[in-house]
Amino acid sequence: MKTLPLCFIVFLFQAIYAIDGNLTLVMVHALWRHGDRTPTETYHNDKFTVDYWKYGGGGWGQLTPIGMKQHMILGRKIRDRYINGHPYNFLKPQYDQQEVFVRATDKNRTLLSAASNMIGMYSAREGENFNRPGYDFPEESGWPVGYVPIPIHTIDDAGDHLLDVDNACPLQDTVWELAKTTSIVSNYFNSENVTALMRNLTNFCGEDINPENLWILFNALKIEKQYFPEVFQNFTPWYTDALWEQIDIVNSQVQDFQNGLGLEGVVVKGIDIGRTLRKIRGGTLVNDIYNRMNRKAECLINTSQECAYTNNLKFFAYSAHDTTLYALFSLLDVAHFAVQPRGYPLYSACVLIEQWQDLNTNKTYFKWCNFDILKGSSSTSSIFASILVFLFSFVFIR
Ligand SMILES: *[C@@H]1O[C@H](CO)[C@@H](O)[C@H](O)[C@H]1NC(C)=O
Ligand SMILES: *[C@@H]1O[C@H](CO)[C@@H](O)[C@H](O)[C@H]1NC(C)=O
Ligand SMILES: *[C@@H]1O[C@H](CO)[C@@H](O)[C@H](O)[C@H]1NC(C)=O
Ligand SMILES: *[C@@H]1O[C@H](CO)[C@@H](O)[C@H](O)[C@H]1NC(C)=O
Ligand SMILES: *[C@@H]1O[C@H](CO)[C@@H](O)[C@H](O)[C@H]1NC(C)=O
Ligand SMILES: *[C@@H]1O[C@H](CO)[C@@H](O)[C@H](O)[C@H]1NC(C)=O
Repeated sequence: MKTLPLCFIVFLFQAIYAIDGNLTLVMVHALWRHGDRTPTETYHNDKFTVDYWKYGGGGWGQLTPIGMKQHMILGRKIRDRYINGHPYNFLKPQYDQQEVFVRATDKNRTLLSAASNMIGMYSAREGENFNRPGYDFPEESGWPVGYVPIPIHTIDDAGDHLLDVDNACPLQDTVWELAKTTSIVSNYFNSENVTALMRNLTNFCGEDINPENLWILFNALKIEKQYFPEVFQNFTPWYTDALWEQIDIVNSQVQDFQNGLGLEGVVVKGIDIGRTLRKIRGGTLVNDIYNRMNRKAECLINTSQECAYTNNLKFFAYSAHDTTLYALFSLLDVAHFAVQPRGYPLYSACVLIEQWQDLNTNKTYFKWCNFDILKGSSSTSSIFASILVFLFSFVFIR
């Protein structure tokens, strides 16, 4: 990965409303996780069969109405931030196809999350009249009042190496196999804690549970407990919150290893395991964002036709997965700051990357905002803030 030859600007949390008058917001990238979903798969003995999952089209891994609502709310927050003047008037009130581009992975849940998000961003509610009937949507009875359809782009999932970070990649597989030979990972996998837990879970689940497939169980239990609290304990008599906490701890540690965290400077066969895993998983996305920002900066002082697309483009959204966000956070070394207390980002977590331009000096700056609508409080810890203060400013808005 090339290092970003951009200047970093430091805004403290409160300072966001006091932007330096010489700086102009020129482009925003958004990356979010899909909303609340059904389990993507489950374990052998599970009594919650696929018949239990009727949400969002039915079956495994579908966006639920809760997930749709989460993204509608997030879309509304994005509208407030960039359209309604809280704090910026950056985008047009109505959808402008030249300003906005949305790309999702080719999964039902990310496609529908993007669609739900765009409802929050561009569909008028009762009492709002920023849209133009006859232009933004048909004036026909039967058309949902105020609903503006927005195109969501995708590419074939198997070829999506930008947003689906676990897609087939022989290099990633090879480096991960090497990672498991390191004493850090193998000592952890073979520790009494972990092996005893896997033994017990294997027994409960009726299939081999190991550190690498543990996430399936972790997810399934969490979602089943959320959706069927009355019958969950009957269906899963071995479940306790303490056991789930152990699963969470081990699963989070495994995911950190898979993202190269805790393996910095660990070299096997000449390969820096931590660095290489982070590059493989997060590098393509950082390059994509970097290239678009760079072109934006170049085109700001260029009115030729070849810059027209870039000059018009102001908001680029990626609708993706917890793995995508975590790969990006890991690459930039902010994972443990951005996600607390541990684990992957929650449903509809969103990071916004704002590109600012000083029109006097032509210098580019950027800052981050981390939207996480599911967490309650709005405090940033000053300890974490001081670690990162020279790199980024995170703004938590809820
Ligand atoms: C803003 O730009 C003007 C003109 O170049 C300059 O005099 C001023 O110092 C700048 N303000 C800041 C805060 O950099
Ligand atoms: C929706 O999800 C199911 C299950 O993952 C998948 O088989 C199906 O192809 C998806 N449908 C579309 C239209 O993407
Ligand atoms: C092992 O489990 C104990 C009790 O849950 C915990 O305190 C300890 O941190 C665990 N050790 C590791 C290496 O996970
Ligand atoms: C595994 O199960 C045994 C027997 O129920 C129990 O004593 C032990 O604490 C369990 N260990 C873990 C790590 O869950
Ligand atoms: C800017 O415009 C000129 C033509 O006016 C063109 O040759 C040049 O490549 C453009 N720069 C970029 C970054 O597109
Ligand atoms: C910024 O870019 C413009 C257009 O290329 C140029 O005219 C101006 O001199 C530049 N300003 C600085 C301070 O480099």
